[in-house]
Amino acid sequence: MTSSTSNESDQRGFVVVANRLPIDRVNEPDGTVSWRRSPGGLVTALEPVMRRNNGAWVGWAGAPDIEVEPFDDGGMRLVPVPLSTRELAEYYEGFSNASLWPLYHDVVAPPVFQREWWECYVSVNRRFADTAARIAADGATVWVHDYQLQLVPELLRAQRPDLRIGFFLHIPFPPTELFARLPWRQRILRGLLGADLVGFQRPGAATNFLALCRRLLGLSTQRDRVFLPDSDRVVRARAFPISIDVAGLEQLARDPKTEARAKEIREEVGNPKRILLGVDRLDYTKGITERIRAFGELLDDGDLTTDEAVLIQLAVPSRERVEQYQILRDDVELLIGRINGAHGRIGQPAITYLHNTVDRAELAALFRAADVMVVTPLRDGMNLVAKEYVACRYDNTGSLVLSEFAGAADELKQAILVNPFDVDGLKQNILHAIRLEEREATRRMRAMRRYLVEHDVDRWASACLNALREDGDNARL
Ligand code: ADP
Ligand code: F6P
Repeated sequence: MTSSTSNESDQRGFVVVANRLPIDRVNEPDGTVSWRRSPGGLVTALEPVMRRNNGAWVGWAGAPDIEVEPFDDGGMRLVPVPLSTRELAEYYEGFSNASLWPLYHDVVAPPVFQREWWECYVSVNRRFADTAARIAADGATVWVHDYQLQLVPELLRAQRPDLRIGFFLHIPFPPTELFARLPWRQRILRGLLGADLVGFQRPGAATNFLALCRRLLGLSTQRDRVFLPDSDRVVRARAFPISIDVAGLEQLARDPKTEARAKEIREEVGNPKRILLGVDRLDYTKGITERIRAFGELLDDGDLTTDEAVLIQLAVPSRERVEQYQILRDDVELLIGRINGAHGRIGQPAITYLHNTVDRAELAALFRAADVMVVTPLRDGMNLVAKEYVACRYDNTGSLVLSEFAGAADELKQAILVNPFDVDGLKQNILHAIRLEEREATRRMRAMRRYLVEHDVDRWASACLNALREDGDNARL
């Protein structure tokens, strides 16, 4: 990692703008400072693409009230954008994660709207746009990411009309009747329309966006195009389902050290016939309580014993100062405590729960150790964990239980698809996955792997960036 002050020669032809940098600055208890990989699917997907592209990444360094100079890291130029404690509370925890996040995820928790949060969202978006404008070379491609930065495309274009601007939304985009609740709905749509290409995870999200442009802004659209008569521009809106570095993860999974660790994990949880695994950020959209409740009821009903199956639940700490996340943590931990109290044995809990981040090698070992991966979000843009599990099952073993409400369900069609709101259905399907005949499990996994190997993150990035380049050439009225 090398640090230097920003100057003209730091300008890049390819710039990614996201709320977070791929690494977070952490103050260790011993007073030293270290950098750790940032949580979430956005970083998982973008990091391998960026490392191969020699671009710049504009984002927050993960701690408030610090100024960090731009620095080089693994082939990327990292350009930190500072956030104050107040901005963290209002822009990030407030407008991004207590207003937009629940609204865009089918209001599975009630969104809160506060005018001062919105003001702060505008001013922080302006800072990101200013930084990107400074770092982008003449005619550069700038790729803006996710719901925290929806105003950046418009703000950036106002300063730098020479740029080719793409936007990608990693989370769902809501239907008209939900989006229309947003007091600043037109401002958000106009912000996004500053891009040449707006990418979504699923076709339905692009359709929602196009419908909103017609209904709330009175714009005309044709297929995937929105016409902007005032500026003589055309914006395209399309789905580009995101993916992972399939080959990289498979290589890690095949490492003999990973297999040895997987064996150790099986022993550590008591060598049951089947290991079930859940891996999520601790987020109320992920259906963690639904999954745990279903597993607990199977034990209560006597349909399952802990000799037959145990559950490992990994939960990365997330947005810990937002109230809904605190409530969720309490609910999850209470539920697990109750189930372990009723069904665990000394040294052998029914549910092994870790509220922590683990490294990629440990994660790969867990995916190798798990016979059944249980992915049950109530709503999810994509869910990369489901794809990671499939990538690690190079021997075509293992079963994936997957929510219909995750973007991944459009692609991993041979998973055991579930409705996580239906607890009885979820219980039956978990049981079905546990007892699935080996030949049938192999048939399903082989088909999912065939699809995934073809549709990796490089293909996603090329599809987005090629479409963005085509737009630059053709998209004029
Ligand atoms: P989201 O972007 O909402 O967090 P995704 O499933 O798309 O959801 O991506 C989550 C990413 O975080 C995946 O790459 C997953 O492997 C990683 N992850 C989840 N839990 C952990 C954990 N406990 N430790 C390390 N990485 C984790
Ligand atoms: O993929 C959704 C997303 O919100 C990303 O934008 C984000 O980087 C990730 O999940 C983790 O969330 P946070 O940055 O709030 O910890």
